[in-house]
Order: sequence, then C-alpha cells, then structure tokens
Amino acid sequence: MRLGVNIDHIATLRQARQEAFPDPVAAAKEVLAGGADGIVCHLREDRRHIQDDDVKRLKKLEARLDFEMALTDEMVGIALRLKPEMVTLVPEKRQEITTEGGLDVKSQIQNSKFKTNPKSKALSSKLFKVIKKLKKEKILVSLFIDPEEGQIKAAAEAGAEFIEIHTGRFAQASYVRGRSSGVKQELIIIKKAVQLAKDLGLRVNAGHGLDYNNVRAIAEISGIEELNIGYSIIARAVFVGLKQAVKEMRRAIR
Ligand code: PXP
Repeated sequence: MRLGVNIDHIATLRQARQEAFPDPVAAAKEVLAGGADGIVCHLREDRRHIQDDDVKRLKKLEARLDFEMALTDEMVGIALRLKPEMVTLVPEKRQEITTEGGLDVKSQIQNSKFKTNPKSKALSSKLFKVIKKLKKEKILVSLFIDPEEGQIKAAAEAGAEFIEIHTGRFAQASYVRGRSSGVKQELIIIKKAVQLAKDLGLRVNAGHGLDYNNVRAIAEISGIEELNIGYSIIARAVFVGLKQAVKEMRRAIR
C-alpha cells in the first residue's frame, strides 16, 4: 500500500500570512524522509494555497507527484507542460473548504453534446479528450469519484487508468462516537466499489478524511494501491514534526 501525502495545508499556512514560509517543497522533503511514496498537491484555480511556482519546484524533487486539478483548459495546459507522474481530476467549487464529493463523471459523459449510443457519447466528451491528451504525454490519469456504480462505470468509459475513491462519507461515519453501523455500511460500499473498478480494469486509489484511527480499515481492503492523506498528517505534525507524523501514518496503515 503506497502513501501519498498532500501538502496543500503547508501552503495554506504560508498564504495566511502571505510570507515565504513554511515552504511546501521543504515540507515535501520531510514527508519523503518520513517514508511517503509520493507527494500530492492541488493547484486550485483561485490559487488559495499551492502556487504555480510551488508545483514547478515540487516536480524538480523527482519524487512521484500526483497533481490534483480541475478539468479546465488552464489546468490541462499546466499539466501538459509539467508532466507529473499522475493527474487526479477533482471537482472544484470556489466556496468549499475542501473537495466536497467526487467528480460527476457520469453527467459529463451523458451531457456530451451529440451521439445517442453510450460508447460514442463517452468518446465525444471533454473528459475523454483531456484524458487522451494526458495519456499521450505518459501521464497517468485518475478520477476522484464517489464509490458509486454509475460513476465507476463512467470512469472506465472515459478511459481513465485509475480512480481515487472518495472516502469522505466513511470518514465522517468513523468520527461519530460509538460508530459501528454507519462505518460498516460505508466499508461495504467502498469494498464493492473497489471490486467493480477492478472488474472493469481500473486501478484504485483512495483518500479524503483518513486519519490515524480510521485508516486501517481502508488499508485492509485488497485492490487499493495508494492512500492519499493530507489534513490528519499535517495536524499531527504540529505536535511531533512532519517526518514523525508520516512515520506514524505508515505504521497505522500497516
Ligand atoms: N484526495 C483528494 C483528491 C483530495 O482532494 C484530498 C483533499 O485535498 C485528499 C485526497 C486528502 O484529504 P485529507 O486532507 O482529508 O486527508
């Protein structure tokens, strides 16, 4: 099980004071020293945390970089120039605190302008065309989606290699005291989603809301290749340092 660590929150802290520190690239080095397999960062359209220059400097680290972005022409252009190992397409809303919900791949395909047969619809969608362009540059493409049958099937039709299953609903259930039934239900949903994705030839990552207490249940699901975790690790790092916080997460995953 690989661990990708999202370092956006380091940039959020820097932007709060509009200073040059803390530096997300220095944070990325600590994260890698702590045993992470890769770095995840999200360049938002409003540049509220990660900046363009951060992304360029992160790429130079030559670590695995998962570049999260919205499906916009500007971001596609940046990704094609940057050539990260992976692009994860996420939905983006200006007012949201964090990525709320997965990408609606199903609607994107259904709303594609013409053609009635489902296969042609997928091929004529903007999503399909963008995925094709990124793949041509040997960039792996992942779609961040909710664990729902329709979204998973649409992700396969759109030509993605990976999906990242949004674990937010599971995480929310796990935060509730005396958790049990809600968590069990969400775990069943995620397991089914992983199985369906594998049956359709997709590779599977997962993330959102995972912390030191709830991560094990997700890490035990076979078929998931990588967990992408940010907030809980950065929050823990305030007390123990980033390298140690990543080490502890690695231990929790095992
Ligand atoms: N994966 C994706 C696609 C995300 O957008 C985020 C949040 O930025 C994460 C994983 C990590 O979520 P968290 O910060 O809650 O661990």
